[in-house]
Amino acid sequence: MIVDSNQIKAPIGVFDSGFGGLTVLSEIKSLLPEYSYIYLGDNMRAPYGNRSFDTVYEFTLNAVKWLFSQGCHLVILACNTASAKALRSIQRRDLPQIDSSRRVLGVIRPTVESIASITNTGHVGILGTSGTIKSKSYEIEISKLSPEIKVSTEACPMWVPLVENNEYDKPGADYFVKQHVDNLLSKDNNIDTIILGCTHYPLLVNKINKFIPDNIKIMSQGNFVAESLKDYLFRHPEMEFKIEKKSDIRFYTTDSSDDFNMFASLLFNEEIIAQKVTI
Ligand code: DGL
Repeated sequence: MIVDSNQIKAPIGVFDSGFGGLTVLSEIKSLLPEYSYIYLGDNMRAPYGNRSFDTVYEFTLNAVKWLFSQGCHLVILACNTASAKALRSIQRRDLPQIDSSRRVLGVIRPTVESIASITNTGHVGILGTSGTIKSKSYEIEISKLSPEIKVSTEACPMWVPLVENNEYDKPGADYFVKQHVDNLLSKDNNIDTIILGCTHYPLLVNKINKFIPDNIKIMSQGNFVAESLKDYLFRHPEMEFKIEKKSDIRFYTTDSSDDFNMFASLLFNEEIIAQKVTI
């Protein structure tokens, strides 16, 4: 009997350049614990933030194809840089050729959809990697959904390396965090909401809080992405049917699994054993 791989239930794939997507996966897991997940961190090639459009596209497509080879029908790019630079091309150009029944979703749209209900002044600040900020993806998406909102942005090229090198809660991080928070706030006095437009940044939230006034809200993306995924699966029962429901999570990294295990175990508050893979 020939089994159609399209009908075999499989985990949801979650991809990031490194550790950052774990902040998204932990929110997804707490909202949707019944599903199984495969997390892939391309730690060997992180950070993606300063890389060219073509390189981020190529690396992201590698990762998506690898997750498809593990059976995933649905992949979440839990990375703003990959969402900004690769998502559209993968959705429009690659998916129809690879397998038009599979889906790849990003993190920018779900975040933008939530902004209007959070800001009171209508002035928001976005912190992100150089790649995300230069792509202007947030401005473009916000202008489509909420054109009345004024957006200021700031690229923070040192922040992902601080996280990937486990320096995010050390005193040295203060200098780089303060520098970019001050730059952002100096661009607009009326900002009342700051969006952490990089999935690594929730790990720096204690530092960021030190340098912003109490009346400014900081938005991480994890819960918006989780809510949006729940809604997507509700609206697409044909996809929901194909998701494995064993509450299992497998972790993979393209670099040393020792570092990954330490970091992920800390974040998930349980022992995590990742496998190293070549993608
Ligand atoms: N977590 C990725 C993001 O959300 C970090 C990108 C990088 O590797 O620089 O943009």
